[in-house]
Amino acid sequence: MNSDNDLQIAGDILEVPHLLQPPREHPATVAEFVGLARSIAADRSQWAHLVRYDATTRWYHRLRTGPGYEVWLLSWVPGQGSGLHDHGRSSGVLTVLEGALTERTDRATRALPAGAQRVFAPGYAHEVVNDALEPAVSLHVYYPGLTEMPMHTSPHCEARTAPRAVTA
Ligand SMILES: [Fe+2]
Repeated sequence: MNSDNDLQIAGDILEVPHLLQPPREHPATVAEFVGLARSIAADRSQWAHLVRYDATTRWYHRLRTGPGYEVWLLSWVPGQGSGLHDHGRSSGVLTVLEGALTERTDRATRALPAGAQRVFAPGYAHEVVNDALEPAVSLHVYYPGLTEMPMHTSPHCEARTAPRAVTA
């Protein structure tokens, strides 16, 4: 016990109702959405058997839905990319599960190794690409669920054909 701390709770702590609330079934804060993504990432049995790789188009699978949010699983073979886009009114959490991805924005290029997470607000524009030699898998949580993904023009994308992607 920390003797410098003279704060003590008198009475029965279990009688304080707000301390007894059960954990929420669904995430509601940015930290909880990040936590949801981390918990799925850490449990391969939830996603590894679902992953497919498609050289002709980026593969995606809706892994989970909840009140106001969706969780998508995506795969990226080497060279596949999203094109520069935003996410409409959705905010999101991108988590790299396997392999490595590169995120490009107008301001920066970021290497995203396995375990990396990016949290973005509505209107955030980026391009995600697998510049590596191995396939990659990523998890994307959108709140609210993604209903549009407007494509932007980008100097990064001029030389490539931007695929019509549903999620990224
Ligand atoms: Fe995206």
